[in-house]
Amino acid sequence: RCNNRNRAFFAHWLCDQLVALQLCAVTVSLDLGHLEKLAAPGSCFSFTFFMGRYGLMCARYQAFQQFENDTKHVNEKIENQESSHVKIAQGEVLPIIDYYSLNMAKKVLVATEKPFAKKAVDGIREVVEKAGYELKMLEKYTDKAQLLEAVADVDALIIRSDKVTAEVLAAAKNLKIVVRAGAGYDNVDLEAATERGVVVMNTPGQNANAVAELTIAMMVFMARNGFNPGTGMELRGKRLGIVAYGAIGRIVADVADGFGMYVHVYSSPNPNKVRLYAKHLRRDDSLEQMFSESNFVSLHMPATPETKGMIGYDLIKLMPAGGVLVNTARKELVDEEGLIRAFEERSDLKYVTDIAPVRIEEMKEKFGNRVFATPKKMGAETAEANINAAVAAATQIVGFFEKGDVQFQVNK
Ligand code: 3PG
Repeated sequence: RCNNRNRAFFAHWLCDQLVALQLCAVTVSLDLGHLEKLAAPGSCFSFTFFMGRYGLMCARYQAFQQFENDTKHVNEKIENQESSHVKIAQGEVLPIIDYYSLNMAKKVLVATEKPFAKKAVDGIREVVEKAGYELKMLEKYTDKAQLLEAVADVDALIIRSDKVTAEVLAAAKNLKIVVRAGAGYDNVDLEAATERGVVVMNTPGQNANAVAELTIAMMVFMARNGFNPGTGMELRGKRLGIVAYGAIGRIVADVADGFGMYVHVYSSPNPNKVRLYAKHLRRDDSLEQMFSESNFVSLHMPATPETKGMIGYDLIKLMPAGGVLVNTARKELVDEEGLIRAFEERSDLKYVTDIAPVRIEEMKEKFGNRVFATPKKMGAETAEANINAAVAAATQIVGFFEKGDVQFQVNK
């Protein structure tokens, strides 16, 4: 293999060959008996010889220096591999260190049923190839079997909302890391990943602005009757309740503040510890308080066992007249049964969502323009968000393999 160690020894060998050649040349000149004629060219030759020798020594020294650095680098990699395994296995040091794979080119698969913008893929390619890794693409796949086949030989996986189940993880024998290019990682079986020693990361905040802008757009859309003729309302002076004050919630708060809205935030489990960034914010102690006062309520929490079905009849029915519920997070957060019941009782309420509810057809039929769902989740569908999240994912993978960086690991 043409690694740096071999290069160093080759340089060494080359030096010796050249020195031998030079000595031969001197011997031949002497043998020819032209010593007196060789005085001037001889000194020239001696000077060139010594300079050449000096140059070769420098090259040799550099090559060994490089070799020493590489050895140090590989040792660091070994240590990092050990420490990340320590973290994955939660205290248990895995006994086998894969020395061979340390020098192998890593294979990174981008598996996106909903593909990234071209510029985002170019960004991934640049990061991956610069690291000397190989990039594999599986876009717009329609069948799980395609994903199972594609993951078989890869070391790293970049996904969006693609489902990484226990079955996918079992099919990915070499997999060490999955990066969800985005915020929510409810599409990855974290338990199965941890069991297999696979690190799972997300790229928090990278697509937050895109989702926040869509949230505001949806509020305006509903305030103006879905852009249908008729009298609408303005956002200025209205109250907006933001459930979960993370990367997206903060931007929504800032922009809503700019619109002249009164912004309330609720962020469990420690609402009082949340630092408020926008200027005119109020912290609500309970969701009941928020729902009963807010003209708009926007959801920004992840889908977890605790948050699934969290927004139901009891909260929705508390909203003031003409209340609008906005969901750019996950459909599972809203208890559809409860929402339908509240909407049947209150003909003034509205629901706008970026993730179609399971019972969307029934809702459309019953409530008409009061319910709107985008045809396909589009919160993060901007070139900027795609590029940010995609390049961050690729960079995190390289950081993980090269330095053992697990800053954004979510299955600790
Ligand atoms: C996220 O969790 O980051 C958003 O829901 C975006 O999801 P997407 O990558 O499937 O568009």
